[in-house]
Amino acid sequence: MSVRRLADASVQPATFAFNKANAAAAKKWIAKYPKGRQQSAIIPLLMLAQEQEGWVTQKAIEAICDMLDMPYIRGLEIATFYTQYQLKPVGTRAHIQVCGTTPCMLRGAGELMDVCRAKIHPEQHQTNADGTLSWEEVECLGACVNAPMVMIFKDTYEDLTPERLAEIIDAFEAGRGDTVKPGPQIDRFFSAPQSGFTTLTDEKAVLKSARDKAAKATAAAEVPPSEAGRAATAAAETNPAIKAPSRKAPKAAPAAETSSPAPAYDKKGADRAEPAVELVEGKKRTRPIPPQGAASAYKAPEMLKGKPIGAAGQKARETARPSLDDKNRPKGIERPAVVDDLKLISGIGPKNEKILNELGIYTFAQVASWKKAERDWVDAYLNFHGRIEREDWVKQAKALAKGGVAEYVRVFGKEPR
Ligand code: FES
Repeated sequence: MSVRRLADASVQPATFAFNKANAAAAKKWIAKYPKGRQQSAIIPLLMLAQEQEGWVTQKAIEAICDMLDMPYIRGLEIATFYTQYQLKPVGTRAHIQVCGTTPCMLRGAGELMDVCRAKIHPEQHQTNADGTLSWEEVECLGACVNAPMVMIFKDTYEDLTPERLAEIIDAFEAGRGDTVKPGPQIDRFFSAPQSGFTTLTDEKAVLKSARDKAAKATAAAEVPPSEAGRAATAAAETNPAIKAPSRKAPKAAPAAETSSPAPAYDKKGADRAEPAVELVEGKKRTRPIPPQGAASAYKAPEMLKGKPIGAAGQKARETARPSLDDKNRPKGIERPAVVDDLKLISGIGPKNEKILNELGIYTFAQVASWKKAERDWVDAYLNFHGRIEREDWVKQAKALAKGGVAEYVRVFGKEPR
């Protein structure tokens, strides 16, 4: 438990007033609450005051209480209860919130705090000598996958090492905080696995039409008809003339079923195989469970074996890949000393970057030079179904080759990826 008190009177400003923009924003917030409940706006109003001043001053609390017609003590209770409100002056250039919850601690948050102690102040909630930086330990900030992390203003900086955090602190101290890209500080796409996507890598395979087709093929080939309605009999083999409720015979009888006769069902049902019901692709299917010790003739559908749906289709597509000797294959080069980060092109992830590198494609200039036939070849090779055109890799690559990220932002109005 931390004791949260207002800052010393010596640092409290004498007055507070919202600036024009925040006064308008405060009015909007108050209007959101039903008549007679306007006091509920105190939380967003205190946040507005903090964004304006950097911290919540006593005069700000009092001014907001006056606006909402509530006693000062109510405002003080709220401001001192919620740790989101800074009650002391924070660094004018950055206030660094280091997550100290378990996942971040296990991944090195302790070392990040040591960096803050060394570079800012040995104690949290204290500014450095120039008053430009401060830091504090906070609870989970919701980026645990990319632990350890810090938050500065409203941005998070993830996958940090002590060295990288030191660089970030230096940048903010020098007034260059806006040059540091928020998010993962390693080659990771948002919170995707570091090694690249491992699921949903093939758009076609996850379409409903593809799933239905795969499920249909699997059912026809491998799921035997239900035997739920077969009569119980002591005969060595049930009369095949007695059909199961499903009139449709399986296309290919499972091998084990032909070599070993079906279990003799006695009347007491000791060996009787009960149909099991399972859900496959949202549909109920039944299958017999063999008596203990007997080998099952049932073959699980592919998806139940952990194989991706449509593996056969995938194989067929791979076979249909264009030849590496095709005249339209873009010319590859030897790996240069410095290679471009092709992943900056929207549509290229770590996996496809690797494939392109294997084809000798390492630079934006190479991609920018592709003619239509070459684009079509690569599109077919990556099984992209026209994505290269849709995402306009050539235009992206031209911008990146010409002026890097800055040119990309100028052309597309946003950062790459
Ligand atoms: S534990 Fe650090 S962000 Fe969740």
